[in-house]
Amino acid sequence: MIRKSIEIEENAVNSYLHAIRILRLQGVEMVDLEKVIKKVAIETLIHRELVKALLRAYEESLKKESEVMKEIEELKPSAREKMIIVKLLKDHLAIESEMISIYRKLAQELQYPVLRELAESLARNEEEHHRVLTSLIEKYEK
Ligand SMILES: [Fe+2]
Ligand SMILES: [Fe+2]
Repeated sequence: MIRKSIEIEENAVNSYLHAIRILRLQGVEMVDLEKVIKKVAIETLIHRELVKALLRAYEESLKKESEVMKEIEELKPSAREKMIIVKLLKDHLAIESEMISIYRKLAQELQYPVLRELAESLARNEEEHHRVLTSLIEKYEK
C-alpha cells in the first residue's frame, strides 16, 4: 500500500504540473484556477515526499524493532545498573520535553496544513514517550 501511494502521488504531481503548463501554453487566463491547481500540486508534492519518508521509516523500524525488543527483555538490572538506567531515562525525559515543545512550535510555524498536522502528531507521540519514560523511571527508582 505504501508503494502504491508513492506511485499515485508521483503521477499526480506530474499530471498537475503538466496541467499548469498546458493552461499556460494555451494562453488560458484563469488566475483563480491556476492558483487552486498550484496549491493542490504543491500539497501533492508534500504527500509524495511524506509517503516516501513513511516507507523508509517503516522499513527501518521493522528492521530495528526485533533486535531492540530482544535486548530489553533480557534486562535484569542490578542496583547499580538501575541507577544508571534511571540517569539515562531522566536525560531522555529532558530530550522528550524539548521535542514536545519544538514540534508544537513547528506546528504553529508551518504554512501547509498537512505538515502542521504531522508536527502536531509528532508532538503527541513525544508526549507519549514522555509518559512511558516517566513510568519506567518510577519502576526503576523503587
Ligand atoms: Fe495526495
Ligand atoms: Fe521521542
